[in-house]
Amino acid sequence: MKLSPWPTLALLPLARGIVLPQQFPHFPPKQEPNQNPNPLDIALDAELASDTSPLQHNWLSNLIDADTETNPPDLPTSHPQSLSQIPSFRSSPPPHHPPATNKTLYQLITECKHTTILARIVSKDEELTRLLNASDANITLFAPPDSAFKSGGESDHEEENFVAKYHLLDGLYPAVRIFHAQTLPTLLVGDDQNLGDDLPQRVAVRVGWRGIVINQYSRIVVSDIKATNGLLHSPTHILTPPKPTKKLIDENPSHFSTLALALHKTNLSLSTHSNTHPQSQSHKKRKTTTLAPTNAAFSKLGSKTTSFLFSPSGLPYLRRLLQYHLVPDRAIYTDVVYGANGSVTEIPAGVFTHLDVPTEDEDEEDREDGNGGAHLGIDVMRFGAYASVKVNGYTRVVGRDVVVSDGVVQVVGHVLVPPLRVVDDSGGWGREVAPEWTGEEDEITVEDLKRRLGGERELDGFHGEL
Ligand SMILES: *[C@@H]1O[C@H](CO)[C@@H](O)[C@H](O)[C@H]1NC(C)=O
Ligand SMILES: *[C@@H]1O[C@H](CO)[C@@H](O)[C@H](O)[C@H]1NC(C)=O
Ligand SMILES: *[C@@H]1O[C@H](CO)[C@@H](O)[C@H](O)[C@H]1NC(C)=O
Ligand SMILES: *[C@@H]1O[C@H](CO)[C@@H](O)[C@H](O)[C@H]1NC(C)=O
Ligand SMILES: *[C@@H]1O[C@H](CO)[C@@H](O)[C@H](O)[C@H]1NC(C)=O
Repeated sequence: MKLSPWPTLALLPLARGIVLPQQFPHFPPKQEPNQNPNPLDIALDAELASDTSPLQHNWLSNLIDADTETNPPDLPTSHPQSLSQIPSFRSSPPPHHPPATNKTLYQLITECKHTTILARIVSKDEELTRLLNASDANITLFAPPDSAFKSGGESDHEEENFVAKYHLLDGLYPAVRIFHAQTLPTLLVGDDQNLGDDLPQRVAVRVGWRGIVINQYSRIVVSDIKATNGLLHSPTHILTPPKPTKKLIDENPSHFSTLALALHKTNLSLSTHSNTHPQSQSHKKRKTTTLAPTNAAFSKLGSKTTSFLFSPSGLPYLRRLLQYHLVPDRAIYTDVVYGANGSVTEIPAGVFTHLDVPTEDEDEEDREDGNGGAHLGIDVMRFGAYASVKVNGYTRVVGRDVVVSDGVVQVVGHVLVPPLRVVDDSGGWGREVAPEWTGEEDEITVEDLKRRLGGERELDGFHGEL
């Protein structure tokens, strides 16, 4: 026999008739019938109650430690192969069929009780309001809930410093598309952003068993909320726009104090042309890919060699060595290359891509001729959410796609040492004559390093710049 529904039916009208005394505080509030529920509210209600993710205070450590050479190399099989393998997406945020909505992105956030700070910021900004409420828009919004504004860590941010355009993507990026990306272009564009050529600042995507993490510290907890004019995902932390490379390096001494000191000692500039031609425009802004060796990487050179490099007679070699880690005028992300002429070239998934790129050189004209500094070979393999990057065939990038305002930082666990070559007739970089120094076995001797950096020339000064 079925349970009769009528006791409930009978109680409801009764309950409405009773005036409840104040000492019944736990009586559930009467539900207003909601003809037009806000799916963002529903999803965040459930997610914020269950999310216990610890704050990622040192996201750079997390990035590099996850990948250090002492661990077995990351393999495609150790990564989720599809979105459905990630637990938080498998038991995808409640209602399995979120109610269809006729709300714009603007209406979703202004009518949601968990996004009041974001709603306040947007409402104060006419341009943003128009953009998020336009019926013909097609954009993706990372909408941080109120808790993200208070969560400290990397995104220890005042409301006023919130950069909305860094939370917006042009076009529709459902979670499944983000899953397969390594970086994504935001609407944050502009000359003041240092990438030049109106190239958009990007966010980095990393996928692990705990979900999709943006810029190494902000996990997506609610995804794929559909609005009439776009899509909405909700991240745990506010996304801080990228800093200049130099600032990133200076602010992370636990990984980069040696690199910071080396840059300081050699007076190498990362984001301006410090060229030696007085007639050419100096201090022009430009983008750079920095292959940044960690402190551990420098220590693998051996203490004798390191002391030499930081001694007065070693500084010219140190400068040359650092230049070999800088790819000027290009931002090489794992899935896209911003070229010297402002081009945007995708690195395809499913195949190996080999890039041959010139490094920083003293002589800017040589560089523009394409026969300047020594070249680096960069091999990229993308396979689903997984990607691997190697430099010169053997040095693994241990921290991929650290976005910076003036390019991108790829963290390497070994110092890159050029192969030994003889100088050819034209004085350029000639034939390779000795095996590569991979940093895997012995430390490198001062003599070997000097030959590799100087060819057969002794380096004894840099046009009066030191
Ligand atoms: C959205 O749909 C609800 C019912 O589903 C309706 O009451 C409301 O007027 C609609 N709003 C707009 C702006 O069309
Ligand atoms: C947003 O758009 C809706 C119609 O799509 C309109 O009714 C509403 O007034 C707009 N709100 C603002 C703040 O512009
Ligand atoms: C938005 O993008 C989708 C898919 O990319 C496309 O089908 C749709 O026509 C676009 N809508 C507008 C208004 O541009
Ligand atoms: C360092 O380089 C800048 C330009 O890049 C130059 O203005 C400055 O004088 C240099 N400093 C030293 C100590 O050489
Ligand atoms: C820019 O550079 C890329 C790659 O080097 C090349 O394919 C493209 O044709 C160039 N575009 C222009 C406008 O020069």
